[in-house]
Amino acid sequence: MDDMDERCLTLDLVRVTERAAVAAARWRGRGDERAADQAAVDAMRRELNRLPFDGTVVIGEGERDEAPMLYIGERVGKGVGPKFDLAVAPLEGTTLCAKDLPGAITVIAMARSGALLNAPDVYMEKIAVGPGYPAGVVDLDRSPEDNVRALAEAKGVAPSRITVAVLDRPRHAGLIASCRRVGASLRLLSDGDIAGVIFTARPRETDVDLYLGSGGAPEGVIAAGVLRCVGGQMQGRLVLDSAEKRERAAAMGIRDPHKTYTMDEMASGDVIVAATGVTDGTLAHGVRFAGGRVETEAVLYRSSSGTVRRIRAEHRDAGKFRLD
Ligand code: FBP
Repeated sequence: MDDMDERCLTLDLVRVTERAAVAAARWRGRGDERAADQAAVDAMRRELNRLPFDGTVVIGEGERDEAPMLYIGERVGKGVGPKFDLAVAPLEGTTLCAKDLPGAITVIAMARSGALLNAPDVYMEKIAVGPGYPAGVVDLDRSPEDNVRALAEAKGVAPSRITVAVLDRPRHAGLIASCRRVGASLRLLSDGDIAGVIFTARPRETDVDLYLGSGGAPEGVIAAGVLRCVGGQMQGRLVLDSAEKRERAAAMGIRDPHKTYTMDEMASGDVIVAATGVTDGTLAHGVRFAGGRVETEAVLYRSSSGTVRRIRAEHRDAGKFRLD
């Protein structure tokens, strides 16, 4: 397949996330999660609709009746040229942005039609490790203790030298206790499990070896796309614990509600992911407003080449160059 379409659109995706990040950043620390999210959604949609492609949102703000924009199934772009599926998280970490805490980002993943798992907005159980381990070193079907021990053995260290990232939620009390019992240390995240999964790919910088626990399924698919670019292993299983959720999943083509998805089943083919920092974080600096200029930092991942680009940009903050 000719990959020029992907190559050309790659940098455009950065622009889309930059615009969304700047729009959200104006709401940093204002305690209004909805307004911050809406600003990011509006900016992202506006920028997407300027692009010369025929895009369909397969992971978005929710299903059409509950999300007025960037809903699952929404067509974006100019409607001409190549067809792509998009997974969008216009503001990942709405609470982090509203409280001006580290780690809020704006993210978009793009792949050819059919390459991204069409997951409903339910929880997904996740497990992820970075590159360099034998296939199957950890598994969603094993206990947290067994996974920590197996990873420690593969790394050649004691379980006490393994750090596990987990969302700090009451539903994870048992999981956290199990990790502590085996001696692992825990990075408890207040929010942001796309970043949590990505941390495992850079253990030297982040100190995180393993990601465990449940978070949003949309975030799981986007994280799988990034891990395909930077290396690592991930599994995800949708939490379809009611008839209503199973019906929604079935309507999206999910036949087996208990299936464990591999990273490649969640995001296949050439996947491109762009993320821009809204607040400062491990993945990217947040937006800076200074003297009529706006600075952004984005990270751009592409799975087919394994390229990771870090793009720092300075924009004029006025007139027709106004970013939101
Ligand atoms: P939002 O930006 O939508 O608030 O998501 C933040 C987040 O922490 C995600 O990274 C994660 O997947 C999800 O929330 C976890 O959901 P919950 O807060 O219900 O545990």
